[in-house]
Amino acid sequence: MDNVIDFINVNRERYLAELKAFLAIPSISALPQHAGDVRRCADWCADEMRRIGMQNVKLVDTPGNPVVYGDWLGAPGAPTILFYGHYDVQPVDPLELWQSPPFEATIRDGEIYARGSADDKGQVFMHFKAIEAHLTQNGKLPVNMKIILEGEEEVGSVNLDNFIREHKGELGADVVVISDSPMFARGVPSICYGLRGLVYFQIDLRGSNTDLHSGSFGGAVANPAFVLAQILAQMKDRGGRIRIPGFYDEVVELQEEERKAWATLPYNEKAYKKDFGIPKVFGESGFTTLERTWARPTFEVNGLLSGFTGEGAKTVLPAVAMAKVSMRLVPNQTPDTIAERFEAHLRDIAPKTVELKVTRMHGGKPWMTSYDNPFVQAAGRAIERGFGRAPVFTREGGSIPVVSTFQEELGVPSVLFGVGLPDENAHAPNEKLDVANFHGGIISSAFLYEEIAKR
Ligand code: BES
Ligand code: MN
Ligand code: MN
Repeated sequence: MDNVIDFINVNRERYLAELKAFLAIPSISALPQHAGDVRRCADWCADEMRRIGMQNVKLVDTPGNPVVYGDWLGAPGAPTILFYGHYDVQPVDPLELWQSPPFEATIRDGEIYARGSADDKGQVFMHFKAIEAHLTQNGKLPVNMKIILEGEEEVGSVNLDNFIREHKGELGADVVVISDSPMFARGVPSICYGLRGLVYFQIDLRGSNTDLHSGSFGGAVANPAFVLAQILAQMKDRGGRIRIPGFYDEVVELQEEERKAWATLPYNEKAYKKDFGIPKVFGESGFTTLERTWARPTFEVNGLLSGFTGEGAKTVLPAVAMAKVSMRLVPNQTPDTIAERFEAHLRDIAPKTVELKVTRMHGGKPWMTSYDNPFVQAAGRAIERGFGRAPVFTREGGSIPVVSTFQEELGVPSVLFGVGLPDENAHAPNEKLDVANFHGGIISSAFLYEEIAKR
């Protein structure tokens, strides 16, 4: 292993230059005008995978963006890793809040700033470089490796479940490895053993066939903006509990053991409030901040639109109002049953004075594994060797829809080892990846393959 690690240390600067080229491609899956860039990014990944020595590299078309596949199967008898990551990124708006252009990666204060630096290109690239180091130095990997990179994760992975079902035969593996999550804190490496699920909706209300003069019609015709506010306000009680009937029926309560373990994590509420400019933390009563984000479901308003929002004042009764809402789910809630209960409740409480349209959007199931799983333990040893500190075991509030599909369709467990940071600004302006974490992540990945081979 020494030669592999030496190689990684010597090549630090080259890695950054190459990563910059990857980050320069605006592969925004949500915006149709970037479809060409998304495709170009898939090609870039395929070329890079060939360069580092992966075999059978190809783009597999789906009804949406292509999946990039490649493998290296030269270790008969050794375990097989299925590595999953995504090459698509989130939109960059509001652009004016970026301190450097989102697709011109810039290093400032030991951080690499660019859209996709942490989520997820930088973390995918870390594995490319670990593989390259093994293959150039030893001519082989200690494990068999299959890679799939998706171009639609940020828009809900709508075509990936089918891809996995259709390619079941080729995707057999012992473990899935994913690096698409943050570490617990700076200097505190972690392994994530649970993710929340998601179900997302758009709500459209119409109160009249045109905007109306609020003097002539106000008081006699329902205002859809106001009705929407009333509907949304009813979704949670003052204690933060969601009021959709049956919403909590399948929720697995937190185990005492987990609560105790999380209470020992170096979480600092003061710093949390300061870092994100939060006047006072909020949430369901009876739970801590970590418990609220990792183990409890939520109902959130992601966007609201109605009426006059320009400068000055306009007396108008808007014809329509729209909200984007989503619910994060925890084991054993499922998007389908929660969607059904939400829609039924919405129709129940919406007044007859407005026309209601509910559109279900993307989602995914929650996921959890036990942390005494041997692969999770192998990843723990690898991270300790890469970062010089044993990891803490965490769950996360975000979602990666495909993780539960790997479990259900392929019967393969996942290991989530990410090197982002809680203040990485994923999905926000000034997304960044810590350069030292990137480097430590390459070394840990190189060790991870070896640790997995050992068992
Ligand atoms: N990398 C994130 C998932 C994530 C975020 C894991 C935070 C752990 C902590 C991923 O790219 C993402 O943003 N997922 C979406 C999924 C959605 C579009 C279905 C999410 O969580 O909103
Ligand atoms: Mn991601
Ligand atoms: Mn993301």
